[in-house]
Amino acid sequence: MKTWFITGASSGFGRDLAAAVIAHGDRVAVTARELGKVEDFVQDYPLQAKAYRLDLTQPETITQAMAEAHRDFGGLDVVVNNGGYGLIGALEDCSAEQILRNIETNFTGPLRVMQAALPLFREQKRGHFINLGAAAAISNYAGFSVYGGAKAGLELASEAVAAEAAPYGVKVTVVIPGPFRTEFIARSLDRAAGHSGAYDATAGKFLSFLEKVDGKQPGDPAAAARAIIAVVDSEKPPFRLVLGKYAYQKARRQLDKLRAELDAWENTGLPTDFTA
Ligand SMILES: NC(=O)c1ccc[n+]([C@@H]2O[C@H](COP(=O)([O-])OP(=O)(O)OC[C@H]3O[C@@H](n4cnc5c(N)ncnc54)[C@H](OP(=O)(O)O)[C@@H]3O)[C@@H](O)[C@H]2O)c1
Repeated sequence: MKTWFITGASSGFGRDLAAAVIAHGDRVAVTARELGKVEDFVQDYPLQAKAYRLDLTQPETITQAMAEAHRDFGGLDVVVNNGGYGLIGALEDCSAEQILRNIETNFTGPLRVMQAALPLFREQKRGHFINLGAAAAISNYAGFSVYGGAKAGLELASEAVAAEAAPYGVKVTVVIPGPFRTEFIARSLDRAAGHSGAYDATAGKFLSFLEKVDGKQPGDPAAAARAIIAVVDSEKPPFRLVLGKYAYQKARRQLDKLRAELDAWENTGLPTDFTA
């Protein structure tokens, strides 16, 4: 039996994962900005679930929730950096406050979660981070500069943490979903504060696309939860777990594009080393 710690367990992926973890027979520390949104897990499964308040923009709530969960469960096996939200709009239209808050939630906060768990993982000589990335970090869209940038940052920071902590038995997996039917578009998508009108054909078009697709996203978060559990249970988990047909096709297209660009510019970029 494993013990999980999940941020943003109030809805979407986090909630479905917590439910699947309980059904799998594991234990879970469900965390949320508002405790009331996760207390049902504790009421329904008092032997398997405990709830803690955690806001990714409030560092003290991260260290406190981690310390309390460690104390209550006597150890943690899987820490899931799931909490996050989108910021949609052209970079020029986003306010400084919006940019900072998004990076704090999607990048700095998850790094702090890893910092809080790493001493325990090292001491246990085991532990697995599951960090939610995004298809926007495979290749980005007009309108997602901050969100996609923060998720790409988390993905690459995760790669470094994986290399640093591997000698202590610590594993890291970045989960990369395409569009999934959660509350992400309806509730977790901050709109740029400004509207210059200069980006209606690019960032504006992407926002219209997202609004149209809401409720019809192909991805099933309950199936994603089962895939994440399978990865955690596997002997050799991947560093990247791409979820759903949309993201798989996107990742393969991006690989082809990278290869083609490397080939096309090799004669210019390659001969730039010292010759002796
Ligand atoms: N759905 C998709 O298509 C998709 C695709 C790629 C990546 N993702 C990623 O998947 C993760 C989960 O999103 P979702 O799709 O499940 O959307 P969701 O249903 O809207 O859930 C978002 C979760 O993040 C939490 N959250 C937001 N700000 C937070 C903060 N400051 N501190 C702690 N928790 C915070 C929310 O808590 P509250 O209830 O308190 O707001 C909620 O639990 C996010 O990291 C998102 O970027 C989603």
